[in-house]
Amino acid sequence: MALSGDQTDLWSSCALEASSSFFDIFPTVGQDKGLVSQMPDFQSLSPSRPILNGAVNFRACMAPMVGLSHVAFRRLCREYFPKEAVTIWPTEMLNSRRIPVENLVTTPETMRSDCETHLVPQILGNEEKPIELSVKRLEEEWGAEGIDINMGCPVKKALSHNYGVALMGDAKYAAEVVKMTVKGTKLPVSVKLRAGHQNDTTYLLEFVKGLEGSGASWITLHPRTAEQKRRGSADWSQIRTVRENVKIPVIGNGDVQTAEDAKILMEQTGCDMAMVGRALTARPWLFWQLGEDWGFPAPLGREGERAPRTPEEEGAEYGRSLMRLSQLIQEHFPGDLGLRKFRFYVRTSGPWLLFGHDLYARSTKAKNFTELDEMLKDFFSREHTLAARTELRQ
Ligand SMILES: Cc1cc2nc3c(=O)[nH]c(=O)nc-3n(C[C@H](O)[C@H](O)[C@H](O)COP(=O)(O)O)c2cc1C
Repeated sequence: MALSGDQTDLWSSCALEASSSFFDIFPTVGQDKGLVSQMPDFQSLSPSRPILNGAVNFRACMAPMVGLSHVAFRRLCREYFPKEAVTIWPTEMLNSRRIPVENLVTTPETMRSDCETHLVPQILGNEEKPIELSVKRLEEEWGAEGIDINMGCPVKKALSHNYGVALMGDAKYAAEVVKMTVKGTKLPVSVKLRAGHQNDTTYLLEFVKGLEGSGASWITLHPRTAEQKRRGSADWSQIRTVRENVKIPVIGNGDVQTAEDAKILMEQTGCDMAMVGRALTARPWLFWQLGEDWGFPAPLGREGERAPRTPEEEGAEYGRSLMRLSQLIQEHFPGDLGLRKFRFYVRTSGPWLLFGHDLYARSTKAKNFTELDEMLKDFFSREHTLAARTELRQ
């Protein structure tokens, strides 16, 4: 959908700025009841503090990511998601000034598929009216099951508009934003935040308690400061401190690269769920691996298979997942936009693949999806390996 300059600015101001700050190529952007009797007791696997009114029984979820957490990637991850498992699914951050006027069906950031459930879209904003109108539309027209408020976006534009991580500078106002959001909906409202501006744990606790007192149903903490953006490493000890000092569920986020990492994060911090961002683009089957460890059945259509684990198995699955993503992107997005989204995905996931830079370079040369699909077939006709961990750079 073509957006006018002004609309584009309002819709995804962060996305556009993000494109120049960290990426050149940023896009403009059933259950099988027959098995139930053999199933483990999923309730015992659920987060100990209920999320989405207790519907969530799986302790890991996808992070909201501009240009990445779109319908095609969510569908890809769902195809790898264990049967019988339920988690929350994000959108990219959505500017609350745009949602009231946007076509939610055709706008790339709000496209969704009918098969998607438990969607918790993320909004960016700080003004009562746009938030109220956005939440109403997302709840009544779009089918949101929860609303997440972004208090972590660190780009300049968010700071100048006083939303995103800027809200972390004013604990009282941030709590007001939660109050105004909660007031307009029956849905649970959550907040995704950072470590603030200077790793001040006393302030972080005061801040989070304000959100809790205003009716936030859960929070997600990505414990990096605004200034760090995504550099350095996430300080998981802050997740533990916050979890110990509030009563609502806490989702921990930052630097999870493998299923093992997700389990360590939960063990070390006591957090209710692990949220995975960048690494999920490299291994969208990470939830399958976790599900297998936790006793969930394989994903629909993969019954009797084990999740890929070795570098070779993961390398081959990465190739298959890219081919599937190409199909899904073509189902949802027009050609050029789809190609940009695909390349951005390869750029994000490539660092885990030996020769990922070569794959990315080739993806930039493909002029259309026919060329892209041929390139993928050729590239993955040879064996490739996926590293468990890589240096997280972007
Ligand atoms: C390309 C990109 C876009 C992002 N966009 C958003 C966003 O829209 N909203 C948000 O709350 N966080 C956003 N983030 C931050 C992630 O949700 C997550 O907090 C961060 O990447 C750390 O998690 P990870 O180490 O698992 O990637 C973005 C991250 C990336 C890499």
